[in-house]
Amino acid sequence: MQGRIPENILDDILARVDIVEVISGFLPLKKAGRNFKACCPFHHEKTPSFMVSPDRQIYHCFGCGESGNAFKFLMRYERLDFPEAVEALASRAGVVLPRTENFPGQPSSGITTQLYKINELAASFYSANLNAPAGLKAKEYLLQRGIRQETISALKLGFAPDNWDSLINYLRSKGVSLGILEKAGLAIGKEGGGFYDRFRNRIIFPIFDIKGRVLGFGARVLDNSLPKYLNSPETAVYTKGKNLYGFNLAKDGIRENDFVAIVEGYLDFILPFQEGLKSVTASLGTALTVEQARFLKRYTHNVVMVYDADTAGELATLRSLDIFIEEEMNVRVVSLPAGLDPDLFVRKEGIAAFKEKIASAENLFDYKLKVLKSRYNAKEIEGRAKVSGLMLETIARFKNAILKSEYLKKLAQELNLKEEALLEEIRKVKTEKAYAYPQTKLERKTYHTNATEKLLMSLMLEENGLVSRIRESLDLEDFQDERISRIVSIMFNLVDQGKQVEPQILMNHLGDDISELVSESVFLTQNAPASEAHREKVVSDCIQRMKNERLKLERQRLHEQIKAAQHVGDEELLSRLTEEFHCLIKKKAG
Ligand code: UTP
Ligand code: MN
Repeated sequence: MQGRIPENILDDILARVDIVEVISGFLPLKKAGRNFKACCPFHHEKTPSFMVSPDRQIYHCFGCGESGNAFKFLMRYERLDFPEAVEALASRAGVVLPRTENFPGQPSSGITTQLYKINELAASFYSANLNAPAGLKAKEYLLQRGIRQETISALKLGFAPDNWDSLINYLRSKGVSLGILEKAGLAIGKEGGGFYDRFRNRIIFPIFDIKGRVLGFGARVLDNSLPKYLNSPETAVYTKGKNLYGFNLAKDGIRENDFVAIVEGYLDFILPFQEGLKSVTASLGTALTVEQARFLKRYTHNVVMVYDADTAGELATLRSLDIFIEEEMNVRVVSLPAGLDPDLFVRKEGIAAFKEKIASAENLFDYKLKVLKSRYNAKEIEGRAKVSGLMLETIARFKNAILKSEYLKKLAQELNLKEEALLEEIRKVKTEKAYAYPQTKLERKTYHTNATEKLLMSLMLEENGLVSRIRESLDLEDFQDERISRIVSIMFNLVDQGKQVEPQILMNHLGDDISELVSESVFLTQNAPASEAHREKVVSDCIQRMKNERLKLERQRLHEQIKAAQHVGDEELLSRLTEEFHCLIKKKAG
């Protein structure tokens, strides 16, 4: 996984940062004996089962199995890839990394770094223009829409001048090539050759990622001409449907309030946020994507959709409901009066009224039923069948059986239908995924773990000196448990390299399922310190038991082979196997 980042650098970084400090930058950690605990940020829970060990520098959740070292935590929590997590911790630890361009898994990191830089330059250019005489009209437009100067600065809003090549000229003067400007989506190639600025005479809304890097831009006209908005095309750093506008500013508010209001447009984010609703973000475009939902889920499970009251908004809301249900998030819906979007509503009615709307948001069931009833005539049987069919498609998505059955009951009451009939119908509903997207973490597998091997492994984790001692008594083939044998082989390697066998270093080499086994045993054994003599006894017992187990397995294997040889009458093979069998038995005695 760590590929070409030199291992000694990884070890060095891990040695210099404190995982407790890292994690407590994101979660409130409470002392619990030698460890710290918190409610797990990776699954929903009310009592803490997420543990952090300052001694071993790892974390483990006894609820969902999520585990790892400081790198892994950042990867999961901040959604970084491995090189990014390494970079983040390295700068924290004051460790200088070798050039990052060649990190594996990031073949395009050269170009992405350049695009971020160019976007940053472009954003500054647009912003400077908004505050220059040429941007006066644009500035007035924003102020007249109720956006204050401090908000303009915080969001780095800008203005693209009414010329064909202002940005091109500016960036050229900074040494940026036309080719890369085109890759950034900022310049468009002309047919007869040459390039022109994509955004002209428009207000510019830079789109930031969670780290505040500029991914792309939205650009609005100053009048009623069309298209109203132009957006950056997909580039190496910008993918539509993967970002949420304003999230970089709202993420803390979203976590604190434990809910997020999702709106559609740039201005629908800006006005409510400026006026004091700090947990809001915009999906930019219509239906929310599953990636956006999963991203939000790491901050809160409670969503309130506030989309326009028009048909497109209704459809987008309905589609998003299904996504949230499948992600097992709680979703409610606000219907604004026709013709009002969040931006207009806040300007007209004030932020208090808007917050009030959100607080009294409708349950997803009631909302969908209301929308459907307005479209189909629920007074007629056919209409009710249609409405119930569409409701069942949503209800079928609930993973929780109680929710499912309660909503069925409710639907039967609302439409005056028999519950049994609905039950029969729901079985026919094939919930085509609201989306197709691979799960980030596969369903947890259940493993049978060999208890003796596991015990020995925990002892080795606890007491480094044991690793070489055990290496002398056992070989890898003595470990029958696949996961443990993998862990032990890495331990042996580390010892060969003259390194300490620390769980946090071990974890750089292990996949999720295996790393979980390491962290679990670290947390489980640390409270039972054993005396030297006792431990020695346990170790030799384990070794003996494992050797016996291996002999037993080999005997079984030979026994099977002998039977097979007898069956086919292969005398030569039979005598060879019998000899082997006797040797094996002697070995045990010896
Ligand atoms: P709206 O048409 O509701 O615009 O589109 P708005 O956000 O209310 O904008 P104002 O208030 O008139 O300034 C909602 C969102 O859909 C995207 C934009 O992200 C917009 O904010 N959109 C809309 C486009 O990308 N292109 C368009 O031409 C229109
Ligand atoms: Mn609007």
